[in-house]
Formats: sequence, structure tokens, C-alpha cells
Amino acid sequence: MDDNQKKNIDFYDQKYQFLDSEVNGILKRLNKLDVFLADATATDTSWVGLYHDDFQNKIVGKKVLELGCGDCANAAIMAALGAEVYANDISSKSGEIIAKVNELYKFTHPIVFIEGDFLTADFKEKDFDFVVGKAFLHHLTHDIERKFFNKICELLAPTGESRFFEPAVNSRILDEIRWHIPVPGRPSKFSKEAFKIWKANDPHPERDNSSKHFKRLGAKYFQDVQIISLGTLERFHRLLPASYNQRSFRKKAFVWERKLPSSLNRIFARSQVIIYKNAKH
Ligand SMILES: C[S@@+](CC[C@H](N)C(=O)[O-])C[C@H]1O[C@@H](n2cnc3c(N)ncnc32)[C@H](O)[C@@H]1O
Repeated sequence: MDDNQKKNIDFYDQKYQFLDSEVNGILKRLNKLDVFLADATATDTSWVGLYHDDFQNKIVGKKVLELGCGDCANAAIMAALGAEVYANDISSKSGEIIAKVNELYKFTHPIVFIEGDFLTADFKEKDFDFVVGKAFLHHLTHDIERKFFNKICELLAPTGESRFFEPAVNSRILDEIRWHIPVPGRPSKFSKEAFKIWKANDPHPERDNSSKHFKRLGAKYFQDVQIISLGTLERFHRLLPASYNQRSFRKKAFVWERKLPSSLNRIFARSQVIIYKNAKH
């Protein structure tokens, strides 16, 4: 196991340590599934992204593998929607969350947690309709990412699809500006010492998160690669005063930005949905 993987385990074991609070958060969403999904898939970037193009209905009755399931909210939502869900995370805390949610919510197919390293895990099922990840790939080094893709292709059914929601870094200038604006839990690059300390524990390796990278990577393994940019206008919600209804702005911004030229969206996007189909096998 490399240093980056160890950092991820330490970081996420700590982040997901409050089992009851994670599980209660999931159950709240499951108990109001339609209301939650209608709002989140129109407003919250990672849900807007992963659920792009009717994903919600596409997964019903399908076999789905989620990589980096983390707090397991998405794994649980997919299972409640009627998918047969397998979920993997390098943090064993995710397994504890899933065990508890399986106990408290009656899924048609309880979620199966795949413990530990995905690359060495032995899968009996090699016919997944979907292999997905939400804010996951950018936690892998390029070397590990390639190994993941070899295995993803082995596990996908011939008609299967792989889709990922990831940050998009397509402009160096914008990226530098972003690092210099502090956000809760991460100091500005201007505060050199504090930034250095933060960086030492950060579970994100130095790597390429551009749309070009994901296009090139996908083209090695799949015949069809589609990348949808997200957040060109939505990202400005951070600049709005706290009194302003930011959720309402975000929802509208996601609709408005679809009317912008794709070349503009590519540069200014904050995030991206990456859809790979027709594995070359
Ligand atoms: C940013 S979190 C995203 C969690 C969740 N998908 C979500 O949307 O909230 C990234 C997740 O990837 C997991 N992760 C990082 N490296 C991994 C690896 N090599 N294998 C499996 N999971 C990994 C982390 O433990 C963490 O739960």
C-alpha cells in the first residue's frame, strides 16, 4: 500500500467515525427519497453530476458497483431506487455504515460491501451494468488509476457503463485563484505555513484532473467517452451574501449554464461528469 492510500485511510476513518450520525443522515434521506432526489439532483453538484441524464431510472433493477462509496449515502440511495448495489471503499468505516443501514432499512437487495483494496478483491460477479464513483478518481495516483481501469473493464458487462463525477481543472489560472481563496477546513496558499501543514494530511495526490486527462484515459479503455462540464455559473454561489437563497441560485445556474458554449463551460467548469461506454476489453 502506498503513502497516498494510507493517507486516505487515516483521513476517511476519522471523517466517518461518527457512525450513528452518518447512518441517521442516510435514513433521513431514504425516508424522503423522492423529495431528497428532486432537490439534490437539481442543486448539489455531485448529485447533479452523477445523476445526469436520468441515471435514477437507468439503474433500477441493474447491478451497480460504486467505488469510493465513502459516507455510503449514494450507495444507499441507489439500493433504495432498486439497484443491486456493491460498494467498495478503502476505509472500513464505510463497511460499518453499510452494515447498520442494511439492518435498519429493508432494501430489496441489501448492499454488499467489498472490504479493502479493490485491486486485490476477488469478484465473483463480472457482469456489472454500471461501475460508478462520486468524487473518487481524483483520490488515486495515475498509476493506481490505470490499474483500476483494467479491473473495471474486466468487471463490466459488454453493454455496461462506467461514470464518474470528478472535479475539473481546465484552467491553471482559475485553479491558482481557487487555492488562494480559503474555504472552511483549508487555508489559503497565502498562509504558507498553515497551507503546508494542511497539505501534509490532504488525501488528494498531485495529479491531472483536467477533462483532457479523463478523455485520454477513457479512450485507452472505452470506445465512447462523454464529458459534461458543470459549475461555470453555479460556482459563483460562494460569492453571494449569506442572506441570499444560494440553493435557489445554484439550481437556476445549472440550467442557465447549459445554454453557454461548451468551449466556455470546459474552461470555467468546477466539476465534470465522465461517462465511458463500450469497453474495448
Ligand atoms: C471525497 S470522498 C467521496 C465519498 C463519496 N463517494 C461521496 O460522494 O461523498 C473519496 C472516497 O474515496 C475513498 N478512497 C480513496 N482511495 C481509495 C482507494 N484506493 N480505494 C477505495 N476507496 C478509496 C476514500 O476513503 C473516500 O471515502
